[in-house]
Amino acid sequence: MSNQSNFIAAALILAVALHAGVVGAEGTGLPAAVRAPERLSETGLYRDISNGTIAPRNLSFEPQYPLWTDGADKARWIRLPDGATIDVRNTDGWVFPVGTKLWKEFAFGGKKVETRMLWRARADQWVFASYVWNDAQDEAYLAPEVGIRNHAEIGGGARYSIPSQAECRSCHESGGTPVLGFNALQLSDERDLLAPHQKPLKATSLTISRLERFGLLYPRRPDLVENPPRIEARSPRERAVLGYLSANCGSCHNSRGPLAGLGLFLQHEIGLSSMGVDPALATSVDVAGQFVVPGTSRDGSRRVAPGAPQASALVYRMSSRRPSSQMPPLGTGVVDAKAVELIRAWIAEDLGAK
Ligand code: HEC
Ligand code: HEC
Repeated sequence: MSNQSNFIAAALILAVALHAGVVGAEGTGLPAAVRAPERLSETGLYRDISNGTIAPRNLSFEPQYPLWTDGADKARWIRLPDGATIDVRNTDGWVFPVGTKLWKEFAFGGKKVETRMLWRARADQWVFASYVWNDAQDEAYLAPEVGIRNHAEIGGGARYSIPSQAECRSCHESGGTPVLGFNALQLSDERDLLAPHQKPLKATSLTISRLERFGLLYPRRPDLVENPPRIEARSPRERAVLGYLSANCGSCHNSRGPLAGLGLFLQHEIGLSSMGVDPALATSVDVAGQFVVPGTSRDGSRRVAPGAPQASALVYRMSSRRPSSQMPPLGTGVVDAKAVELIRAWIAEDLGAK
């Protein structure tokens, strides 16, 4: 990664740390932080890692709006402590019991490359860990805190990097909750069929109705089964755009984290969607940002310029992988062409037709 994006990452991390008040825990008399085990086989994900058998008590899930990670094939699991439930009193801010673990596996060309883990080890500590698979595919080892640049070839000359702990946190700790893909919108039973890169649900995938049936939600939420959470939008394409931006951009671009001052709110909250204009539309469509699209006048450049994808900063920055302009700034080295196409079409056709 370049100096520029390292700089952005470092600035974000510091902002996140200050925000959360976690700087300088040393020498404060607090118990030492829990550390992640050295091997993936020690985390409880597998029953037998040598043949890839997942422990049956870990349940798999598929967020309907996945994060783009250069085309990686992903699998995800959650483990809740025995008898514990997820506190879903706040529909948009689920609280997970201490002991919860979530994993996400990344594979390219059928080969496992990395498995990430989020673990609520204590009430006041989430452990972030990344495990790197060996060639034999029978064990993965804890990556260094600084990550691994250009770790693996993923085709087309592109290389895949293992993010640093700081990078994990800049996405996962910039909003209300560190868990980004296991929530009411992402697990809704009513799936958005236009969502880019969505994988079909497996019979075993957790959705809200299954969580409810298994008694894993507190309090019970039959309302979320009867009225599955969905983004209300003016067209199916706009719905998919808002979902994509929420998952891929909203972890940083929201009203709670260190970037709140930028005033670009792409994170979707179900609770707000019934209250008039969507914050993502209100803060982007026909809004002039700080960033001016190269080749466009300051007056013409917009975050989203209705009818004009070429004057829209969102499109420009999503289509770029130059460190100074690319969005997201971390965790990807290859443009998400499918998503760019979706957003272009939305801007040109849906917003262009007056
Ligand atoms: C560019 C932002 C970004 C970075 C960097 C990032 N993540 Fe995530 N992560 C996400 C998003 C968004 C999701 C949910 C969507 C999905 O899974 O596709 C997610 C999902 C996960 C999950 C599944 C549980 C959940 O929150 O849904 C785990 C585990 C995870 N990430 C761990 C990590 C770790 C560990 C790192 C660092 C090594 C990391 N992530 C780096 C954005 C990021
Ligand atoms: C890891 C955090 C992070 C993620 C994820 C992220 N951004 Fe950003 N974004 C930033 C930061 C930091 C800035 C401010 C600095 C800059 O402009 O480079 C920014 C600025 C922007 C701006 C300029 C806003 C203005 O007013 O000029 C746009 C547009 C933008 N991002 C779009 C996106 C889009 C679209 C996505 C998702 C595809 C995304 N970002 C994902 C961190 C992030």
